[in-house]
Amino acid sequence: MAKAKSIFMCQECGYESPKWMGRCPGCGEWNKMVEEVLKPAGPTRGLTSETKSAQKPQSIIEVKSEAEARIHTHYSELNRVLGGGIVPGSLILVGGDPGIGKSTLLLQTSAQLADLKLKVLYISGEESVKQTKLRADRLNIAVEDLFVLAETDLALIEKAVDELQPAVVIIDSIQTVYRSEVTSAPGSVSQVRECTGHFMRIAKTKGIAIFIVGHVTKEGSIAGPRLLEHMVDAVLYFEGERHHTFRILRAVKNRFGSTNEIGVFEMKEMGLTEVLNPSEIFLEERSKGMAGSTVVASLEGTRPMLVEIQALITPTSFGNPRRMATGIDHNRVSLLMAVLEKRVGLLLQNQDAYLNVAGGVRLDEPAIDLAITVSVASSFRDVPTRPTDCIIGEVGLTGEVRRVSRIEQRIHEAAKLGFERAIIPDKNLGGWTVPKGIKVIGVSTVEEALQFAL
Ligand code: TYD
Ligand code: MG
Repeated sequence: MAKAKSIFMCQECGYESPKWMGRCPGCGEWNKMVEEVLKPAGPTRGLTSETKSAQKPQSIIEVKSEAEARIHTHYSELNRVLGGGIVPGSLILVGGDPGIGKSTLLLQTSAQLADLKLKVLYISGEESVKQTKLRADRLNIAVEDLFVLAETDLALIEKAVDELQPAVVIIDSIQTVYRSEVTSAPGSVSQVRECTGHFMRIAKTKGIAIFIVGHVTKEGSIAGPRLLEHMVDAVLYFEGERHHTFRILRAVKNRFGSTNEIGVFEMKEMGLTEVLNPSEIFLEERSKGMAGSTVVASLEGTRPMLVEIQALITPTSFGNPRRMATGIDHNRVSLLMAVLEKRVGLLLQNQDAYLNVAGGVRLDEPAIDLAITVSVASSFRDVPTRPTDCIIGEVGLTGEVRRVSRIEQRIHEAAKLGFERAIIPDKNLGGWTVPKGIKVIGVSTVEEALQFAL
């Protein structure tokens, strides 16, 4: 038998190297290279002749297009994030921090599918069957077609799948599953990659939709889900602030739908409930008529969402001024403050800035720029904004306000929630109908926007 070879692999991106390196050349992360013992050349990698079928090239017009039948869960938020339901035969990765609610979400989803008379197999590598049962009891789950199994050996999992023939399988989590032919420990780069590849083949050949849970790890010896992103059909991240009850399910990759789509959930005593009207909920605790608060109509995927952006600007007492931001990119905040300083003449260089998106949501689209600048200016000058104003626009380096996408949808959402004025880029004016009850003001520069807003 040939001697087992060992190589070094990056836990972040899977970069392989014959020797250890402090910094991974693949992703630039430090201290992520770990030693992996490789099995001497075996047939486990790549396609085997079993899974390969001799297919001839076909002209695209001869290929029959079938509208793929999707499985709809009771969670319309989840269906939307998936691009309109679960596609049979797809492999979906659900990533997120430990304790955020991945197991809860998938167990509840499983119960809903079992309610539809679909056989679901929930495989838990982290909890015993009894523990899963306890969780199910807490969530009021009792359905016949939901099967649970505590197993981590890939071969035995496959056997169970073959016997049960389920429509949907949940693997919780990929970091606990191992294939006995691979010598490295469960959770290592090669195990995680190998097992995911195997689940992909099961999904495709048997037409089973498989969800795999992947914990995001900051450090430690288990491989992160980022490594798997290119292997699976869809990647959903479940995120939220630990101290908030809201959870956001975000599609970062989807071969069967659009990305950037988000679903909003709330973690309650009895599990996760979906939030169908996030704008109302996010604005519920709003402090009206306070300096430093503005509301933006942000577009996450296809759904507009009204969110409050808060800023607190205070004189720096010593040292360098602080720039802190939760829910928005702090580099963007620094940039926008520089624009305010240079183009509007606000003296911000000796001021600390704290920015926050209320409700624990994370926003990452440029259309929130103008709302950030107005919040900062409002707090700095201690002049409140009008509670019935909504502010939308991207800001350029010369202080110009640039057009944003899908203005009509954003304004409709604002009008629906009773906002009376919308300050928007003037380049977005015209070509669409303004809904009743809201006045639209077009602005071309940050300075102009501040005149209207403050
Ligand atoms: P869990 O689904 O176990 O997280 P993950 O699988 O991502 O690690 O969620 C655990 C957290 O959710 C835990 O802190 C308790 C909380 N929780 C509730 O608040 N209500 C519930 O009904 C359940 C089942 C969990
Ligand atoms: Mg879990």
